[in-house]
Amino acid sequence: MEDIKLCIKSTLDFISESDVKAFEAQVKKCNETLEDGTGKGNDFLGWLHLPSSITKEFLADIKETAAYLRANCDVVVVAGIGGSYLGAKAVIDSLSNSFAWLKNPKPAIVYAGNNIGEDYLAELMEYLSDKKFGIINISKSGTTTETALAFRLLKTRLEKQVGKDEARKRIVAITDKAKGALRTLSTKEGYKTYVIPDNVGGRFSVLTPVGLLPIAVAGLDVDALVEGAQRMETVCGTYTSFEENPAAMYAATRNALYRSGKKIEILVNYQPKLHFIAEWWKQLYGESEGKENKGIFNASVDFTTDLHSMGQWIQEGERTIFETVLSIKSANEKLEVPFDEENLDGLNFLAGKRVDEVNKMAELGTRLAHVDGGVPNLRIEIPVLNAYYIGQLIYFFERACGISGYLLEVNPFNQPGVEAYKKNMFALLNKPGYEAESKAIQARLK
Ligand code: PA5
Repeated sequence: MEDIKLCIKSTLDFISESDVKAFEAQVKKCNETLEDGTGKGNDFLGWLHLPSSITKEFLADIKETAAYLRANCDVVVVAGIGGSYLGAKAVIDSLSNSFAWLKNPKPAIVYAGNNIGEDYLAELMEYLSDKKFGIINISKSGTTTETALAFRLLKTRLEKQVGKDEARKRIVAITDKAKGALRTLSTKEGYKTYVIPDNVGGRFSVLTPVGLLPIAVAGLDVDALVEGAQRMETVCGTYTSFEENPAAMYAATRNALYRSGKKIEILVNYQPKLHFIAEWWKQLYGESEGKENKGIFNASVDFTTDLHSMGQWIQEGERTIFETVLSIKSANEKLEVPFDEENLDGLNFLAGKRVDEVNKMAELGTRLAHVDGGVPNLRIEIPVLNAYYIGQLIYFFERACGISGYLLEVNPFNQPGVEAYKKNMFALLNKPGYEAESKAIQARLK
């Protein structure tokens, strides 16, 4: 069976093969540092061999819990933020029917705890008021405000609707094995729980229960997803040849581009279903690399939609960008452009062609135009959009991220910068323990 492939040919008008090759020794070293666990953040390397450590028994347990929620809920609310939500949403969206929501799926998956929008939460409460719903509450720290606040609202609503005993059966918590408010609360309430391993950070946690349970609840093939990730663990982990290791080549190429002045990487897709893969990728790379005043800025666009908006900037704006294109080789569905006798729209030149062929020509035309316009293009070729290849893609990006972070000489596995806003928010909200910060902020705001 084919694997996903990385193609860097359309970067070679901007950097040379030897610029990429120059990273070979360093990349090899970074890979070894990951493997022997001697680098920065080495207490967060649990993701590295996670796919191959997933057992059939563990997946069976995930599937059993998912089956219970599927059988007993019309709606399942997945509460979580950042790494505790983006991976599940990315996989579910990319593998589900685009109109699943309108087809009354059982259960519908909705999300909460990823914002503090009062309108959003009030509208969610209203939506749930006549629904048979369950909750998957996900927080590694167990103390994240967005998620805890949403969970308090959801739990109150559910208990009011069905009583404490029934509510407890429909709530699953995914959190640390011992620490945090969510663990304490879950033990006290008697919820079914899953553990997020200590050594797996949020943005690397999609292949733990954090991602796998919601994905299984959505009725998707978690076995194939894990198999795909296992395959990439082998491909990216066996370091026989630099050129044949896609994670090594991706890390090297993006860093060669970065050093040549291309400071922004735009992840491009031509399938709207992949929108949240890009959101997940932005968190993975942005939170891993953006520190110590360094790091490629991660952006994303959905083409061809955004060719009619950001396309102008990409073609002619400041030349500090490069693109990485997620290119799906074959569409899953078949839809041809019909012939029209009158041809009033002038589209008969497309009659009989697959819509995907039009999309592919848009993709190729855009690549040529963007390269002409000074935008290097990397391409990740994905044979077909299914769980197996999404699994491959996830591990490929994770592995390359670890290597790339080490190339940058940062700790790719922490996120100290995320705390700054929290400290101010807690001080402004008079959270106990933040009195000094509160005073300092009040003085600053005067
Ligand atoms: O990657 C990360 O570690 C973060 O994005 C977290 O996933 C996010 O902040 C949510 O944290 P928690 O799971 O502790 O609620």
